[in-house]
Amino acid sequence: MNFEYIIVKPTYAEHIALIQLNRPKELNALNLQLMGEVRDALKSLDEDDNVRVIIITGNERAFAAGADIKQMSDKNAIDMLKIDQFSTWDQIKKTKKPIIAAVSGFALGGGCELVMHCDCVVASETAQFGQPEIKIGVMPGAGGTQRLPRAVGKALAMEMVLTGEFISAERALQAGLINKIVPVELLMDESVKMAKSMARNSPIALQMAKEAVLKSFENSLTEGLYLERKNFYMLFATEDQKEGMAAFVEKRKPEFKGR
Ligand code: CAA
Repeated sequence: MNFEYIIVKPTYAEHIALIQLNRPKELNALNLQLMGEVRDALKSLDEDDNVRVIIITGNERAFAAGADIKQMSDKNAIDMLKIDQFSTWDQIKKTKKPIIAAVSGFALGGGCELVMHCDCVVASETAQFGQPEIKIGVMPGAGGTQRLPRAVGKALAMEMVLTGEFISAERALQAGLINKIVPVELLMDESVKMAKSMARNSPIALQMAKEAVLKSFENSLTEGLYLERKNFYMLFATEDQKEGMAAFVEKRKPEFKGR
């Protein structure tokens, strides 16, 4: 997979793929092409049977400093409607495999929203999160006003969206926006460790479990419980369920095949 603004390693570790945002001079500002590349890479990795978990990262200074302000600055409302830049983001939501964000430095605006599209977040001590769009006369447009309050609650979400100020990794952890903080030099090791602990499980069960958790943000409790129950029963159609339960009974490690 050859891209201009991202580096993709489908075999970064066993069953683990990596997408690295790679516009370092612009702090990984998410221009249209970069997000199109992320969409294409995710689609291809989601279809790759060897991949069970995907990690998205940036570099030490920035995960991503938001949508590309220079690309948007002269646009009018009709241009924005026609370009519909956030439609490329729909693929992230559609990706069935678990996605881990490995975040160092700035995760701002669209960068913070990209983090919130991911399923788990490992952050370095230097990570900063924010929705600073308000400071440039706009507001979050890639899910920030909806996913942030669900992640951190109304008070902090309002503070971040209305002041545009950043929060530290420590505060993000307290608020429930991220899973863990690690020293910057261990960011990838720790992210891979988390990814491995997912990837050793049945890939079909991973996808069905992810689907059910995500539905909890959209469905009523009754609908969500119904989907959960259906997915649970469906997993009994897989060889992985037979293998997982047999391995438990026989006191050995399961060998999941994704079937
Ligand atoms: N878009 C385009 N370029 C960006 C950018 C962005 N979001 N963020 C940083 N850059 C560019 C800078 O223009 C600069 O380029 P030049 O060297 O050519 O001038 C380069 O990256 C380095 O940035 P700074 O010199 O500003 O670095 P700094 O360390 O002084 O400041 C920063 C870092 C605080 C992150 C600052 O760059 C900043 O405030 N960036 C913008 C953050 C922002 O407002 N993000 C929201 C964007 S809108 C959005 O995301 C909408 C949405 O909902 C999806």
